[in-house]
Amino acid sequence: MKLMVIGSGGREHAVIRKLKENPAVETIYALPGNGGIAADAVCVDVGAKDIEGAVRFAKENAIDFAVVTPDDPLVLGMVDALEAAGVPCFGPAKNAAVIEGSKVFSKDLMKKYGIPTASYEVFNDAAAALEYVWTAPLPTVVKADGLALGKGVLIAQTREEAVQAVRSIMEERKFGASGDQIVVEEFLTGPEVSVLAFTDGKTVKPMVSSMDHKRAHDNDEGLNTGGMGTVAPNPYYTKDIAEVCMRTIFQPTIDAMAAEGRPFKGCLYFGLMLTPDGPKVIEYNCRFGDPETQVVLPLMESDLLTAMMACRNGTLAETEVRFSEKSACCVILASSGYPEHYEKGYEITYDEGISAQVYVAGAKLEGGKLLTNGGRVLGVTAVADTLPAAIDAAYADVERVHFANAYHRRDIGRRALRALED
Ligand code: AMP
Ligand code: GLY
Repeated sequence: MKLMVIGSGGREHAVIRKLKENPAVETIYALPGNGGIAADAVCVDVGAKDIEGAVRFAKENAIDFAVVTPDDPLVLGMVDALEAAGVPCFGPAKNAAVIEGSKVFSKDLMKKYGIPTASYEVFNDAAAALEYVWTAPLPTVVKADGLALGKGVLIAQTREEAVQAVRSIMEERKFGASGDQIVVEEFLTGPEVSVLAFTDGKTVKPMVSSMDHKRAHDNDEGLNTGGMGTVAPNPYYTKDIAEVCMRTIFQPTIDAMAAEGRPFKGCLYFGLMLTPDGPKVIEYNCRFGDPETQVVLPLMESDLLTAMMACRNGTLAETEVRFSEKSACCVILASSGYPEHYEKGYEITYDEGISAQVYVAGAKLEGGKLLTNGGRVLGVTAVADTLPAAIDAAYADVERVHFANAYHRRDIGRRALRALED
């Protein structure tokens, strides 16, 4: 089979590596991929948001199955366009991807179907929002409605910060049209858990849980990033909590989307907070998370392509989705300065003896050399029988990867270890 994977990050590299385990896969094309992905797939110079380009490439190259991974093309309707051209796809249609594309949509969906989430108000004009945040409980969470590269959530500790948050999104239009509407919501507390789930629109099969580390620096200090590392499973997510989530969140969400005439097929990402009042939804993403995918897929024992095709064909109930009992840890190596200003163009080299998986996110090939080309450069993922062993193994291999100006957090998994000790 000939496959095509849309995107260019560490997540896509992890997806491609896993897809390659299926012996029926002959060639994988990555649109556009990156210099590191080029070791595992044929990179094609078509941008991840170029819907026409993707359709043309798929037709010309007789692609048997396409995997659309990033949020932008999903929200723009790439799956609809590929399917209309006869190319079977893994990923939600545009009318279902709105679950990530519009926070107003997702909050209203949860309210209508009684799915636990933070209480909230929606505003489409700045004056009303400013008046509201003046009396809302603190801290106050202000969210831009649309996609904002994961930066559209502002947590205000004071009235002044809340006012500033509304102004920056609605008046200064920091996230452009994504801030035409905002959600102002209750601040929740508790450990966060990411759960990615396969779904065919009727059946939902959760993958192993994980824990992201979003802040740039150790002890969860510094700016929010795309994610500086992950561990799986997430020790806070016990069997009992998983059962509650299935009953009150996962299946109700899938059923709600179907009832709205927007069946969700693909990978639905549940960003959960385990609050004192039970698990609640912080956010939905219409896709695999990054770097969650870099710890989840290495623990998958059943076949990824089979599960993806079952999601598309509506046969997930009869399809095996199995994960190992082991643990995984992914440490992201970034360019120093990320998520703000950083330099790129430095050569990446590896020592002998790396046993971890290295998933490349921001790199390009030039004259046979792999050069840094982004904020998050690569992820180093180790799998072991226990979480402490996975963390040690990942950090041992981090020392075997070299590039100038490299930066990584030194405490990935520490909070998870504390939870295990409790
Ligand atoms: P998001 O981009 O929606 O994942 O939000 C980014 C981060 O903001 C989340 O991972 C949470 O840590 C935090 N966050 C979002 N919403 C809330 C909330 N209602 N209460 C507390 N923290 C929140
Ligand atoms: N790691 C969070 C996300 O992919 O949005």
